Amino acid sequence: MCGITGYIGDRDAYPIVINGLKRLEYRGYDSAGIMMYDGNSINLSKTKGKVSDLEVITNKEEIRKIGKIGIGHTRWATHGEPNDVNSHPHFSESGDLVIVHNGIIENYDTIKKELLSRGYKFKSDTDTEVLVNLIEEVKKTEECKLGKAVQLALTNVIGAYAIAVFDKTKPNELVIARLGSPIAIGIGKDNEEFFVASDASPFIEFTKDALYLEDGELAIIKKGRKIKVRKIDNDKPVDPDIQELKLSLDQIEKGGYDHFMLKEIYEQPKAIIDTYRGRMLPNEGIIKMAGIDDNISKFLNADRIIIIACGTSWHAGLVGEYLIEDMARIPVEVEYASEFRYRNPIITPNDVVIAISQSGETADTLAAIKLAKSKGAFVFGVCNVVGSSIARETHAGAYTHAGPEIGVASTKAFTTQITVLTLISLKLAQAKGTLSKTAVNNYLQTMQQIPTQVEQLLKIDPIVKDIAHHYMEATNCLYLGRGFNFPVALEGALKLKEISYIHAEGYPAAEMKHGPIALIDENMPVFVIATRKGHYEKVVSNIQEIKSRRGKIIAIVTEGDETVKEIADHVIEIPETEEALTPLLTTIPLQLLSYHIAVMLGKNVDQPRNLAKSVTVE
Ligand code: G6P
Repeated sequence: MCGITGYIGDRDAYPIVINGLKRLEYRGYDSAGIMMYDGNSINLSKTKGKVSDLEVITNKEEIRKIGKIGIGHTRWATHGEPNDVNSHPHFSESGDLVIVHNGIIENYDTIKKELLSRGYKFKSDTDTEVLVNLIEEVKKTEECKLGKAVQLALTNVIGAYAIAVFDKTKPNELVIARLGSPIAIGIGKDNEEFFVASDASPFIEFTKDALYLEDGELAIIKKGRKIKVRKIDNDKPVDPDIQELKLSLDQIEKGGYDHFMLKEIYEQPKAIIDTYRGRMLPNEGIIKMAGIDDNISKFLNADRIIIIACGTSWHAGLVGEYLIEDMARIPVEVEYASEFRYRNPIITPNDVVIAISQSGETADTLAAIKLAKSKGAFVFGVCNVVGSSIARETHAGAYTHAGPEIGVASTKAFTTQITVLTLISLKLAQAKGTLSKTAVNNYLQTMQQIPTQVEQLLKIDPIVKDIAHHYMEATNCLYLGRGFNFPVALEGALKLKEISYIHAEGYPAAEMKHGPIALIDENMPVFVIATRKGHYEKVVSNIQEIKSRRGKIIAIVTEGDETVKEIADHVIEIPETEEALTPLLTTIPLQLLSYHIAVMLGKNVDQPRNLAKSVTVE
């Protein structure tokens, strides 16, 4: 959701800024823009559409040849429709200041009215143009430098932001600030150059030294000078915590795959191993998770566990509920973070909250965590992005080591979240004695086979592709599953909706007769998960019910199944495993299926319309 890039140094800024925007495309956006300063004047280009559309414009202009300082932006519309005028960067009234902004200024209307009364005029409908003019007004009235003006202006702002501001009257620096929306600064050798970006991916080939601004901090970057960081609320200097990046270029490139989503689907065997590596010793029956070990009494004495998340992470949370209750016998509730934070929930210090988030930046999840903490609950995070806001805000946590996930449709994040939740469940079951030593050991050993089984499943991709061919024209689809695979049905339907724009519903198989059955006819494909140990006979009855109404049945079954094969139109076999672990397998063909349908329909798989990878607004 919105991306910022920037550069200041001795290189040509244009390619760095524009390539940086391309790396941030995965976040989701609807317009793009760039500003270059050529030593005399500001050159600005922006357009509705993709970065490639922006390049078409800048190809014809001088902008690409000039400038050692520049900022760029991909916008995901919040205030004001996606069009050229509302795209960033935005000028201030005088034309001296230029800003790019991620987030929302909630009190922009009040500020705008005040600025209008002082004679400011606005070209766009955005809250961002209000902010840059507020900075200009403060700079004028306080007669101060840009850094101070930004700091003072931000103390009057309610909302969330990551911003980069340029001032033509002092064209050798950029001012960066953050509250609730991530921003990283890459630091070149001897401070001779600086890179700015919403995450480190745009500058990974230039420097490994990066500073992630904390909420409420402002940084001034100037070529040849050490970075200066201050607190926005009290102007106090902060010692910058410069980190060494672990990210590598090949992790953020497609590596021969047509799409990031496909690459990430194929990365799952490794991602699952990376997630459990060092955390389980199957032969000894040992599970090591520092965040749980250090806080085991919190979990064991908890009245209940509340899992909060959004989107795919919420689906992983549902699998977590089934796992924890089944194995560790601790009551679990799963909540959408967006509902939880606003419904005045009952939270006590005896509750343990598990917050799940791939990006670690989802605004609703972050707000729900803060609410739970304020009520005294212990909050444990399951995040993929190291050092993300949620990882920092939680009391303890466990990372999924999936590596960067760039495709908007989440795949490897889901399976690695389930991997972590499985380990947590087994760890708690072990500590509580709700599973025998033999049972825990058996689970761990079975778990170790999962990556090879996923590899095996990926080999049936041609079969899945053929099935995709049959159903690419469908306008509605139903996904059914029971027990551990009910959340997988939800996730399968979400994947299809997200990238192919085909309407799909996930349902618990037995609920079908309470509504969705009315929709079934010969045009309705129904994807049913019917694993051997998962209430199999009941699901087979559901399949019969679909058959009698001439629905098309695509079944995911356990290897060697004969019964469903007789009834279904298509069958996909998964290797045998413990029922509790089947979500790690059944989800793979559903990911592949959505991927192939979207490709066949010519959709933009990695950047589906209207969606964002990291939802930093509520
Ligand atoms: C967006 C993404 C989804 C993701 C959800 C939650 O909607 O498009 O793929 O599942 O946010 O994101 P999180 O980073 O908190 O897991």
